[in-house]
Amino acid sequence: MFDSGIGGLSVLKALRAAMPHEDFIYIADSGHAPYGERDEAHVLARSRAIVQHLVRHNVKALVIACNTATAAAIHLLRDEHPTLALVGVEPALKPAVALSQTGRIGVMATRSTLASAKFQALLAAQSGGAKDVRFIVQPCDGLAHAIETSADSGDMARVAALCAQHTGAMGQFGMQAGQIDTLVLGCTHYPFASEHLRALVGPQVHLIDNGQAIARQTQRLLRPSLECGLNGSVGAGQVRLFTTGQPPTLQAAALRWLELAAGVGVLGADNSCSIYRET
Ligand code: DGL
Repeated sequence: MFDSGIGGLSVLKALRAAMPHEDFIYIADSGHAPYGERDEAHVLARSRAIVQHLVRHNVKALVIACNTATAAAIHLLRDEHPTLALVGVEPALKPAVALSQTGRIGVMATRSTLASAKFQALLAAQSGGAKDVRFIVQPCDGLAHAIETSADSGDMARVAALCAQHTGAMGQFGMQAGQIDTLVLGCTHYPFASEHLRALVGPQVHLIDNGQAIARQTQRLLRPSLECGLNGSVGAGQVRLFTTGQPPTLQAAALRWLELAAGVGVLGADNSCSIYRET
């Protein structure tokens, strides 16, 4: 699995909980992040390079643990790797529609995800139902990057300020008519800011991320080969972490949010994604 950085660890957490005996390789492309404020060509090129690298590891499934990369690349990656079990993430609009009582749903995501054709099609599909639903979409510039830096320093001040700025721009949250009662976290980094978001929107508003849904989908796809390595052996639940950026950031994030003490390998910065070493 991969993400532009540490955000996909929120998906890894759900995958490990659902499939504790599977082995995981996680790549944080922090050296080329944030994706959400870069053009689609950059995100596509990075996704291709990382997928090529992971495919060489003979993975039995590949999870794009990044909404931005999924929006930019999954359709092309499916064409290029037709036999690969590929799972992507997208903002959980459908579950939000099912949950919302007021019909006012906030969506926080990167600028690039929100501008993508994939997201626009999803938005159109979910807006046209029987319920009177309105989506309030908010490009959260800077938030993924702030979460990334907070992992290392532990200083959440910038994250808290950006959460306040972005939720403030969306309108009033609450359970009354006209208020936003459901907030979709459409970037895999944002669950790591959920304490701050919860404090801002109040205790009753639904916060939705799709880590668990992705875990279920991956499980469904893998059912025939679950807990079974290529040679038929049961996996040990091993996690290997790699980054194209600074190892201490990924190491600190894994420890802080997943209680996972693991070494971090460095993926070569030569774009070939072929060189790495354990630190
Ligand atoms: N975590 C990524 C996502 O889900 C994007 C963060 C970034 O902008 O790099 O969209």
